[in-house]
Amino acid sequence: MARFPIILALVCAISGAFAATVPVVMWGPGSKLTSALNGNPESDLIDAVVDSSLTLAFAEDRLTAEDISQCKDESRKSCFNYLSGLSSKSYVQVSQPIERIEETLGEVRYVYVDKDGQLDSEIPLKESKVVIVSLALDPELSREENLVKHDGYIKKIYNNVISAAGDANVVALYTGKSSGSLVRKARQVSSTAAPASSSTAAPVSTSTTASSGSVPMESSNGTILQAPEILMYFTNLTFTDKDTKVLTVKSLSVSKTSDESRFTVTMVTQDDTIKFNVTNGADGYWSVTDVEYGKYDNFVTDRTVGAADGFSYYCGPPTKYTLQAGQALTWTKWQIQPNFSTNPQINKFNDPYNCVGFTSIPIWSGLLVTVILLAIMSIGVTWLMDIRTMDRFDDPKGKTITVNTAE
Ligand SMILES: *[C@@H]1O[C@H](CO)[C@@H](O)[C@H](O)[C@H]1NC(C)=O
Ligand SMILES: *[C@@H]1O[C@H](CO)[C@@H](O)[C@H](O)[C@H]1NC(C)=O
Ligand SMILES: *[C@@H]1O[C@H](CO)[C@@H](O)[C@H](O)[C@H]1NC(C)=O
Ligand SMILES: *[C@@H]1O[C@H](CO)[C@@H](O)[C@H](O)[C@H]1NC(C)=O
Repeated sequence: MARFPIILALVCAISGAFAATVPVVMWGPGSKLTSALNGNPESDLIDAVVDSSLTLAFAEDRLTAEDISQCKDESRKSCFNYLSGLSSKSYVQVSQPIERIEETLGEVRYVYVDKDGQLDSEIPLKESKVVIVSLALDPELSREENLVKHDGYIKKIYNNVISAAGDANVVALYTGKSSGSLVRKARQVSSTAAPASSSTAAPVSTSTTASSGSVPMESSNGTILQAPEILMYFTNLTFTDKDTKVLTVKSLSVSKTSDESRFTVTMVTQDDTIKFNVTNGADGYWSVTDVEYGKYDNFVTDRTVGAADGFSYYCGPPTKYTLQAGQALTWTKWQIQPNFSTNPQINKFNDPYNCVGFTSIPIWSGLLVTVILLAIMSIGVTWLMDIRTMDRFDDPKGKTITVNTAE
């Protein structure tokens, strides 16, 4: 019996060691790749490599799914500007992909790219079927900055190879030589502020993380939508008719009207579009008006969604737009800020006007307690006033006061 926990622990340790898989992003000039996937990541990878006449595998020393899904540059866009913009690519997770390829194909050539993007030798296009392009890290830069640079190198090298290789059937891979579990542990310890949590990594959705400014960036904490004219954030957007559905925003665009002080924001969701106008009033306040969702328009809300110029609007509790017929469009933790400059650019929110207002719960309770104490005190003071002092005193020279007990 006593052996059972030991065996269990061993099994856990072993499966933990083998479960460490490395992400592989595959793409190429032909779009055959995506259709060929059959659900077994390892054979998908090997098939793609075997079918190609040249495989170009860009390899980091370590790469994790989180690197691909959650790496953001300073402007909070994906580190992989080029990779995420590729229209047709596939994503698999394989343990030790480079070893697998070497085992299957045998002859593999290595080319090294130094931290400045220089290749140590020409890519042997003719001589070899598989070329591993090993990417070096610059120790002076953060991991994010390194990955951003590597994305650029990959684009350059890949495009050079494609133009040199002519009509050869090239498959490109971006992967790691090992799983980054060590790196990941170090990161989890060091970054307490980062909202990224490894358990929420969703590799498949990540390969579509877009780089264009007006496409949503979804983090586990909410969605950020950005255009030069507007910056928006929310955690949850729902539409309620007979039942409630969560709306996923696919893109945001802004169209200007002839009226300079107003623009229309269009958000495409999974099944319809949300539109609203942002108006810059003459009084120095901007506001959100004319909200419509698909065929429903004239939504009303009991809040003023807007703020003074240069401020954002933020509402933690749900902001609910309703119709008389009962439909409702609800934003949770909604923050929004427009920029009405002629050449607008907005990257971060300014201080918010908070919808909760000044009379928050602590203020109400403070007032209530004060009122109660005032009431108690005034009762006390009135009672104090009611105390009568003696108005008759004993005269030592005169007759003593006698109280007739018989009375
Ligand atoms: C959201 O962010 C906060 C702080 O920024 C963090 O404490 C929290 O864990 C995050 N939530 C999720 C689901 O990542
Ligand atoms: C969003 O709101 C809907 C409806 O209120 C709820 O069912 C869902 O769990 C919420 N999603 C998140 C991520 O909070
Ligand atoms: C926004 O304003 C324009 C004109 O100012 C108007 O024609 C349009 O219908 C409004 N948009 C929405 C979504 O109501
Ligand atoms: C609006 O855009 C202008 C021009 O790019 C910029 O100078 C200004 O700081 C922006 N305003 C805000 C609030 O970001």
